[in-house]
Amino acid sequence: MSRQPRLSFAASDSSASSRERRTIGLGLIGLGTVGTGTARVFVEHQHEIERRLGCRLELKHVCSRSILKRRDLTWLGREVKRTRDWREVLRDPGVDVAIELVGTPSTALTIARAALQARKHLVTANKNLVAEHGRELAERSAQARVNLGIEACVAGGTPILHAIREGLAGEHFNALFGILNGTTNYILTEMEQRGCSFREALAEAQARGYAEPDPTLDVEGHDARYKIAILAMLCFGRSVRVRDIPVEGIARIEQVDFAYAHKLHHTIRLIGAAQRRGERLMVFVRPMMIPGAAQLAGVHGATNGILMVGSKGGNTMITGRGAGGEATGVAVLSDVVEIARAILAGGASTSPLGYMHWRPGKLAPVGDNVVGAYLRLVVRDRPGILSRVCTILARHGINIDSVLQEPGHSKSRLPFVMTLEPTREDRVARAVREIRRLPFLAAPPLTMPFAELP
Ligand SMILES: NC(=O)c1ccc[n+]([C@@H]2O[C@H](COP(=O)([O-])OP(=O)(O)OC[C@H]3O[C@@H](n4cnc5c(N)ncnc54)[C@H](OP(=O)(O)O)[C@@H]3O)[C@@H](O)[C@H]2O)c1
Repeated sequence: MSRQPRLSFAASDSSASSRERRTIGLGLIGLGTVGTGTARVFVEHQHEIERRLGCRLELKHVCSRSILKRRDLTWLGREVKRTRDWREVLRDPGVDVAIELVGTPSTALTIARAALQARKHLVTANKNLVAEHGRELAERSAQARVNLGIEACVAGGTPILHAIREGLAGEHFNALFGILNGTTNYILTEMEQRGCSFREALAEAQARGYAEPDPTLDVEGHDARYKIAILAMLCFGRSVRVRDIPVEGIARIEQVDFAYAHKLHHTIRLIGAAQRRGERLMVFVRPMMIPGAAQLAGVHGATNGILMVGSKGGNTMITGRGAGGEATGVAVLSDVVEIARAILAGGASTSPLGYMHWRPGKLAPVGDNVVGAYLRLVVRDRPGILSRVCTILARHGINIDSVLQEPGHSKSRLPFVMTLEPTREDRVARAVREIRRLPFLAAPPLTMPFAELP
């Protein structure tokens, strides 16, 4: 028999004045970029949020490993309890909502399970946790009759998960395309607009705090892969295993690819996509050629943008800040507000992943996809190169749409580009494996699909 968490108010009393006397207690675990951002936004917006809710919110307890040696935290209020041990936050009877912002996935999972076990409502910003364990946590929260907030896990301060789960809950989605990682979008737009190399743009992103000292998770597309897994679950009600999603990063994109992209009236973006393919889903993360006129091509810098394609409502696009302490803090607090409203209404549990009944999320192989492709080759120039490449493509039944070659490159490292007519991707991959072995190649070939965006 489940029991409501202990709240510091009587759930049956609904008159406005007693509502305002009610207090909902928050416990914040993790005081890094997002934890501190959340606390700052809370302190600044507390009265506005309380006016929305008609009850009091109190930050009761905060936790981080180094809290006792930390900088001055008096701005939080002297009455806020501090601890190095997250268990103390969960043991605090004044805490109704636990906010988990520790970062490390294994620690986050332990805290999340313990919070739900203790019948605390839970808010997390951890995309790994939700992509890998979202269904388990949703089931545990339903069993405990508490709520789980996950808005900050995808696109930081951009309310994409609420839009899919609530605003578009009547829709049948056909596809979703997203620029889901601000670091890689910043790098690509710097390369595009300033004409710098990948390395220079990455160094700039690190200097500005947009990229981690070790940028692998972002640059190789893994961060976006967690996010597209969550979005696919919310859009289609299918559980998608993160490790089954093909991923490709942006480290091989060169300045010359933007020059050719512009000639073709396109640009390059790292896209996370989830699309219906009959009974299956096709889900991937990879750099793609985007038509210059497409809405996603207008998403610049560290911004995120998500285009949802519905079968009735057509296209809905949401853009906004994908990261940053305070922007993400707003998403965390939006979950707190939603949970507080549920508490005030009697604590009814909502479905954080948008579905109560799930279907298997079998993925369609990307090789089945029929798309046009960009093929960039860098060669040591000599006669007969084009005919050798064309022979291989013809043998695989691939038609060439155009051949482009910009002047001004050294003959020992000469880039040129072919655009290929729509063909199955596995066929293009086989042809490229053969082309890769040609003796005059000075660098491995690069292929990118042309995105067919609505
Ligand atoms: N950064 C962003 O813009 C952003 C955007 C969206 C989502 N997120 C997600 O938000 C979460 C937090 O990210 P962040 O950037 O704020 O991380 P962060 O700056 O590394 O902060 C992590 C915090 O957790 C504390 N912590 C770690 N292990 C702990 C433990 N065992 N017990 C108590 N405290 C512990 C750390 O304490 P000490 O410093 O004292 O060791 C630190 O205060 C991550 O899941 C991240 O993916 C981040």
